[in-house]
Parts: sequence; structure tokens; C-alpha cells
Amino acid sequence: MKKLFIVANWKMNGNKISNEQLVNYINEKVYENPNIEVIICPPFTYLTQILKLKATRIKVGAQNISESQNGAFTGEISGSMLQDMNIDYVIIGHSERRQMYSDTNTIIAQKFELAHQNNLIPILCVGESLNERKTGQTISVVESQIKSVIESTCIELFTKSIIAYEPVWAIGTGETASSEQAEEVHFNIRSILKEYDLNIATSIPILYGGSVNGANSKDLFTMGNINGGLIGGASLNGEEFVKIYQAAERLTNE
Ligand code: 13P
Repeated sequence: MKKLFIVANWKMNGNKISNEQLVNYINEKVYENPNIEVIICPPFTYLTQILKLKATRIKVGAQNISESQNGAFTGEISGSMLQDMNIDYVIIGHSERRQMYSDTNTIIAQKFELAHQNNLIPILCVGESLNERKTGQTISVVESQIKSVIESTCIELFTKSIIAYEPVWAIGTGETASSEQAEEVHFNIRSILKEYDLNIATSIPILYGGSVNGANSKDLFTMGNINGGLIGGASLNGEEFVKIYQAAERLTNE
């Protein structure tokens, strides 16, 4: 039985009241299951609130870290601070950060390394733009995003990491990659990793992200190389998020 990860990326959404309602709802509907890891990634300001509210079976992640360890970097949050707050996971290299905040492959590799130095499990996001897909560059783009991290750090760090394939054209657009399209890229990600380490290539969790919802999650999670979802919009709606979780639950019970 493969383990499935259901990760909520709230992005820059929520407030104290709506967060409390959402987490209380999720607490009620999410059960202890050794084959499913539910992770909530709220904005930094709400990490403490969610840590207090969530049931112990739910984990908490941040959405970003600084590429520097500490020092005069106004407005930044370091990996050591997140470790200090007992955060388990951190999203790194999300396409919104790559596009809007100049997170280059080099910076992403630094963040990836610092996540590990601070005992955070990075969820490394990769994915192509619409234009890159149309021009047949999907695999080469994903390959360079992954290889740049491996080559600036080391493959061993991927033993305790998660990759999320998030095609940029499917994020927040309502247009999901078909399960076959996603599976093809996930398969290729494992092939890229096989050049370095067979064991890591077969065991690393690879999540799909991009307009995942209650209706399409089962088909996606059924694919052999897909180990769950990184969910944006649908994670802000308790019922929809729980439907995604329940799709995973049904698969782990089959
Ligand atoms: P949507 O689920 O809103 O498409 O967002 C996906 C995403 O960016 C998750 O990190």
C-alpha cells in the first residue's frame, strides 16, 4: 500500500475565525491512518494558531523559508525559526514564488538545503508553463529544476524530501492535468532520479498539484506514480478538502 499525502496550501488566505472553522471541520473528518499524511500549510502568521488547533494526526508546514540562515534580512523567516516552532514541512520553489518573487533554481537549492539543515521536510515544487508544455519542453524543464537542486546539494537529501509536480497552467485555473498527463510526468521524474539513486527514485513521494478537487482526486491518486496532492483553492473549503481526503482514504482501504 502506497502512502498518500494530502497537503493544503492555503497561500495568502484565511483569518483567525475562518481558520478555526476550517481546522475544526478537518479535525472531525480526518482519522488516524498510517497510510495518509494530512498537512496544512497556512501563512506564517497563523502557524501557531494551527499548531494549537489541529488534531495530533495532522501535520503543519510553512509555505516558504529564507535562503539565508539568519541575520539582517528584513521580513524573512528562517528554517531555524520554523524548526523552533515545531513545524514539520516546508513548501519550496512554488511556481508563484518562482514567477513573482524571483526564486531561481539556485535560490531554491539553497532553501532546500537549509530546510534539511533545520530538520524540515521540503516539498519541492516543479512544473512547466503552458508555453513550455505546448512547445514540448515539459520534461526538460522539470529535469533542469530537479537536477539543479541535486547538483547544488546532494541526492541523499532526497531520501527525506517530497516532490510536487505542479504544472503552472493547471494552478488556480480549474484546468487539471489529466491523470495520464500527470502520471507521465511523475514517471519521468522517477526516471530522472534513477540516474542518481534507484532506491530514492522509487520511494520518494511525488504529489500532483493544480486544480485538484473532490471530483478528480480519486483518478489522480489511483495512478501508480502519484502519491497524493498539493491542494490550493479546494483546501480553503472544508467540505471539498475532506472529499479529497476521503478519496485517499477509500484507496487506502481497498
Ligand atoms: P490550485 O489547487 O488552486 O490549482 O493550486 C494548486 C497549488 O498551487 C498548490 O500549491
